[in-house]
Amino acid sequence: MNKNSNIVWHPNKVSGEDRQRVLGQRGLVVWFTGLSGSGKSTIAVEVEKMLTDKGRAAYLLDGDNIRCGINSDLGFSDEDRNENIRRISEIAALFRDAGMITLVSFISPFRKMREFARKRAGEDNFIEVYVSTDFETCMERDPKGLYKKNIRNFTGKDSSYEEPVNPEIILDTICHSPAECAEIVYREIEKYLS
Ligand code: ADX
Repeated sequence: MNKNSNIVWHPNKVSGEDRQRVLGQRGLVVWFTGLSGSGKSTIAVEVEKMLTDKGRAAYLLDGDNIRCGINSDLGFSDEDRNENIRRISEIAALFRDAGMITLVSFISPFRKMREFARKRAGEDNFIEVYVSTDFETCMERDPKGLYKKNIRNFTGKDSSYEEPVNPEIILDTICHSPAECAEIVYREIEKYLS
């Protein structure tokens, strides 16, 4: 909600299309969602590398990293998570408008906010990737040692995770390695770019 009533939108002379022409690619938002430890960031890092190696302009916005900076004032209540995703949705939409292939890796547990992110990016510019690793597997892998700790409001324990209803991609990290998952996402992105 805009708290400033005296704000007037100022138009640019350069459009999103102009910027994309300069970069030679269209912008996209590729949104990874899933539990902590599901493999989102590991896969997203690989996809960013593959895109960059192929000469595509890509940028990864990662939940843990963003929480070290612009979102360092936010915790893990539902309200703070919603604000976390609201801000990153706006940032991702700006990156997309700049022509970047914007990879976003956040738990983003609530459907309503993922739908918000999709709307801000534009339906045709948004690829939702559900990293569907189940809670027990994440707990066994526990790459950051967080499941062992008794953290309050932990996603999947005492804070809920709402599974995507109709994501563009579902990744099974039990059957597929991170490299294979990255390849699946990369191939889908290339379809949007061609
Ligand atoms: S989100 O729910 O608001 O989207 P986000 O992706 O930014 O979460 O941050 C999740 C990361 O914060 C996890 O990968 C984990 O490293 C860390 N973390 C710390 N506390 C929690 C918690 N209570 N629930 C989930 N993740 C947590």
